[in-house]
Amino acid sequence: MVVVTRNFHLAKLIPSLSHTSRHFSVKSTYHPGDQVTVGGRQYPSDHMTNITPHILSHMGRNLHLQQYHPLCHISDRIVKYMYGRYLTPRGSPLFSVHSQLHPVVTTQQNFDSLLIPKDHVSRKKSDNFYVNKEQLLRAHTSAHQCELMRMGLDNFLVIGDVYRRDEIDSSHYPVFHQVEGVRLLTKSDVYGKQQDMKEYELFTPEGPPTHHPHVINILKADLKDCLQGLATTLFGRDVEMRWVDAYFPFTHPSWELEVKLNDQWIEMLGCGIIQHQVLLNADVEERVGWAFGLGLERWAMKLYQIPDIRVFWSTDPGFLSQFVFDDPATNVNFKVVSKHTPCINDISFWLPSDSSYEAADFYDIVRSIGGNLVEQVYLVDQFTHPHTGRTSHCYRIVYRHMDRILTQEEVNRVHSRIEQETTTALGVTVR
Ligand code: PHE
Repeated sequence: MVVVTRNFHLAKLIPSLSHTSRHFSVKSTYHPGDQVTVGGRQYPSDHMTNITPHILSHMGRNLHLQQYHPLCHISDRIVKYMYGRYLTPRGSPLFSVHSQLHPVVTTQQNFDSLLIPKDHVSRKKSDNFYVNKEQLLRAHTSAHQCELMRMGLDNFLVIGDVYRRDEIDSSHYPVFHQVEGVRLLTKSDVYGKQQDMKEYELFTPEGPPTHHPHVINILKADLKDCLQGLATTLFGRDVEMRWVDAYFPFTHPSWELEVKLNDQWIEMLGCGIIQHQVLLNADVEERVGWAFGLGLERWAMKLYQIPDIRVFWSTDPGFLSQFVFDDPATNVNFKVVSKHTPCINDISFWLPSDSSYEAADFYDIVRSIGGNLVEQVYLVDQFTHPHTGRTSHCYRIVYRHMDRILTQEEVNRVHSRIEQETTTALGVTVR
């Protein structure tokens, strides 16, 4: 495996690529043994395969590496902050940066290595893009924690695109970007060389190894100070913050950092003390550590007042030109290029009687056919017929183009293609 380390000021413009070598239907009608090409690599498909051409078309865009892209600016600022905060004794940055790891990971990496139980909801096919039953598009950058720790890295950042089958609205998109930070410490890192180390241990002596309370306190202080420092570096000294207890299977204790913006508390990141078993899964002994994960779009939207997550994928110069500057810390107050009136069309259908229907499949179809014309899609009504027992769903699709006016005829054409595909792929009956 090749690890690419990127220097924060060397971000290169990566041309957009889409790696679809053959056509697939939006419903996963893969035949066992079909090969799927994802990010230039071939994989066998099976009953779990549910990646769509629309999702594949995002692969290789690498917005976080694209010069002057807002996500690249924020990622550069985070890297620069971490480089400055943690130095080796020789004065060079302690953290390495891994921003080009391939997004296809195993279920072992994405879930098992992180102690996510076999029956955990986050593994569901309706929440993830599976390449096949053993591989998926990473749902978080934490999927790379164990492999990098096993390689012997103690301080690293992972930056990359992550994939989740979500509902679609102005703050959710099935592809977004995360930064993961991991820091591992030895006993002497934790307590310092002068301490009488006999008195201080990393783990409690009895029972299954759990962190010594001293250790938790020392790690927690470093972690919280690091992340509060990051938030003030980006949002300014006066920003209000608070810590909220959280739960992640792979860290304990865990917290979320919330920042107050426009009178609203917004969750900005998740973090915690790495579970001992996660370190053991990576063959790491005699070390303790912390990890955090944050979503770059969330930070960029708050920092630049960007109202809609879809604009990050825009290639419109009206958007990109607002971010052309060499100092990534430049202040930007994003101006929406234009706000056109939306076209709203509803779609109602009877679900198939065999209960095979999944709303996530419908959202995929809407997104695949409607692309970025679709601003929102949500369930407005559902009912079950008292006599026939059949269930009907009604969804509202809000069409709006970021850059131009849409005509009702144009919207109607897209809408009827969605109706057709939903009928054939999902077996519903449009009403
Ligand atoms: N991976 C978590 C998420 O995507 C965030 C996280 C990372 C939490 C590291 C704790 C430690 O929500």
